[in-house]
Amino acid sequence: MRRTPSLSLPRKRERGRWVNNLFLLLAFTLVSSTLPAHAQLRGHGGPVRALAISPDGATALSGSFDTSAIRWSLTRNAAEQVLRFHESAVNAVAILPDGRFATGGEDGKIAIWRPGLPEPIQTFTGHTAPIVALAVSPDGKRIASASWDRTVRVWPLDGGAPQVLEGHQQNVNGVAFTPDGKSVVSVSHDPQVRIWPLDGGQTTIIPLLSPLNSVGVARDGEIVAGGGDGKLYFFSAQGEPRGEIAAAETPVISVALSPDGKLIAAAGIRGSVAIIDRAERTLTRTLVGPGLPVWSAAFFPDNRTLLTGGTDRMVRRWDAVTGDHIGAVAMAGSDDPLAAYAGDRGAEVYRGCVACHTLTPDEGNRAGPTLHGIFGRRIASLPGYNFSEPLKKMSIVWTPETVAKLFEVGPMAYTPGTKMPEQTIGNAEDRQALVEFLKKATGK
Ligand code: HEC
Repeated sequence: MRRTPSLSLPRKRERGRWVNNLFLLLAFTLVSSTLPAHAQLRGHGGPVRALAISPDGATALSGSFDTSAIRWSLTRNAAEQVLRFHESAVNAVAILPDGRFATGGEDGKIAIWRPGLPEPIQTFTGHTAPIVALAVSPDGKRIASASWDRTVRVWPLDGGAPQVLEGHQQNVNGVAFTPDGKSVVSVSHDPQVRIWPLDGGQTTIIPLLSPLNSVGVARDGEIVAGGGDGKLYFFSAQGEPRGEIAAAETPVISVALSPDGKLIAAAGIRGSVAIIDRAERTLTRTLVGPGLPVWSAAFFPDNRTLLTGGTDRMVRRWDAVTGDHIGAVAMAGSDDPLAAYAGDRGAEVYRGCVACHTLTPDEGNRAGPTLHGIFGRRIASLPGYNFSEPLKKMSIVWTPETVAKLFEVGPMAYTPGTKMPEQTIGNAEDRQALVEFLKKATGK
């Protein structure tokens, strides 16, 4: 028998190296896109590793290898807040029913946030290896985390010690609650699916042949696990096998179910996103287009619009029923803030900034301060914006030269301690075009 290809999430050290190579490859160069940018959410400085959408469809949360999480307004297509807490990649995110949200990191920590507050309101520590998945209980009172320390932990949000579920022999890669909130389901590299009753009852163990990377549970209790062999495996709530389907030729790295449970999006590590009809067990389509490969996916409450987070650092929208990339279909609409600057090279470069910054006085702040009047302004001096402390102590004055320098060396080196995700513009002409554009567009 052919050996199962190695798992898409290699062990920590290997993955570190692999991710570094990937980063070098991307070199964080901001390249102008020929597609209209306003249906894409661009802001991260690294691949988008995790995504969640709020139950009302108004907010998304993304986590990235760039160590930040971003809270997005899906109605305004704008970044509302950059969240900095984790020391390394943000591998997992979740949104709670009351609007709070959670991030889980490669640093083994979990942070709970309230929108608008710059620091987490709670942190949970205890995992001794990266956290790679989070799930929220149906009543919103507990968070489950899956970690490469081989444990699953269930954390009561109102305090108290976590339940530590031990038994997996390898990295735990995915976790989900059952619809009644009484059990959690986990999948591991070992390769097993485990159903853990949280009242301490007997754990159901389902051994498989392929390592497992991701898991979801539908509203009717059916379990869907994504395998390193590119297949999706289905199980009843009690753990009986209910079939399988080949979704990808490469390992499935992430599985997302539509809220009504009809569709499954399965992202393959090297390939595209497969859309599967769960009841029929058929592959209905494969999303092809820009931004692949995809690391993460989440459905809107409409059960058909899909957000994907890609290696290209963008968050994109798709129609999972027609397979259309909505970014490519909604051609430059009137709400494109840069429509007036069509053909301007600097405006194209600025597309990498638009999710987080505005240009005119009445548009206000987004995740970053408005750039209106930026030239001549001292760093971190704009009233009404909550700047990071280290920036307030710096004496940089923003001029075309200092802004160009900021993106030549990157925000992390030029303004250490910043929450702005790391990004550089490698090409001097592009940097020049950007600052020429800012001179025109920021009103000074
Ligand atoms: C994901 C969001 C995001 C993106 C994308 C982004 N920024 Fe920022 N930017 C921020 C945040 C947040 C701050 C505030 C930093 C802090 O307080 O730590 C900031 C700060 C700045 C500042 C300093 C402002 C001041 O008043 O001191 C400048 C200048 C700036 N950004 C320019 C840009 C440009 C130009 C781009 C595109 C090439 C860009 N930014 C892309 C989030 C972003």
